[in-house]
Amino acid sequence: MDTVTHYTSTAKWLHWLMAAIWLGAWLLGLSAVHWHSINADHRITLLHKAVASTVLVLVVVRVAWRLTHPAPPLPASMAPSMRKAAHAGHLFLYAIALMALPLSGWLWSSSGGHEVWMLGLLKLPALIAPNEAVQHAVGVFHTWVAWLCGALVGGHTLIALKHHFIDRDTVLKGMLPQPRDSAPATRPSAPPSAP
Ligand code: HEM
Ligand code: HEM
Repeated sequence: MDTVTHYTSTAKWLHWLMAAIWLGAWLLGLSAVHWHSINADHRITLLHKAVASTVLVLVVVRVAWRLTHPAPPLPASMAPSMRKAAHAGHLFLYAIALMALPLSGWLWSSSGGHEVWMLGLLKLPALIAPNEAVQHAVGVFHTWVAWLCGALVGGHTLIALKHHFIDRDTVLKGMLPQPRDSAPATRPSAPPSAP
């Protein structure tokens, strides 16, 4: 049985919008901490928080969409172990990069008594009262998880490019805009897994 290859256009928009925000937030966070001359007045930290906090809202929309609109099946040419690894990787990206990391940033700011203004427009409520011990622990968590996620997202990107340029399958195409004049692209679905 053939199955449609493409993600829905809403899923594609959410993926690429959030990928751009996420990568921008990552670079801003890094610059805020390590590029002292441009962040003397904490302007870059504020920008990092203003941009990155939008992920907290977008991820709710995205998960709701994903739960009601399944992803296209992976190519049958992929070994079952690779398909499992891909699903685990995506789950990890959702749980760690798109939820735990921004949530820890919010908690870090709250525990330090700092405000968070989403896009500079909407003030998020403080998650807890200022607490130095929590501030320190969550700061360490946010920093390490940011670096772990940087590696994870780098790997995710390289794997997507490998599918396209080396395996020459439809994995990346399924996340790209569908050419208007083409018939719906198809991807042979994976055989059903054993019960
Ligand atoms: C998309 C989600 C996010 C990503 C990818 C991200 C990434 C990063 C990175 C890479 C750093 C620098 C780590 C280091 O090398 O020390 C950082 C620092 C920081 N992040 Fe995030 N972060 C995210 C979300 C948030 C959110 C939502 C907040 C708060 C609302 C936040 C608050 C902070 C703060 C306060 C710092 C330290 C900045 C400074 O010391 O000037 N982050 N983040
Ligand atoms: C810019 C480089 C990126 C490329 C080339 C890329 C490519 C892709 C592709 C081709 C898929 C579909 C995989 C499949 O059909 O199984 C995908 C899914 C996904 N990507 Fe990315 N991506 C990038 C950046 C990101 C970033 C920065 C994040 C988040 C931090 C991210 C999170 C995800 C997630 C969670 C999925 C699973 C979607 C689902 O099944 O609901 N991606 N990506």
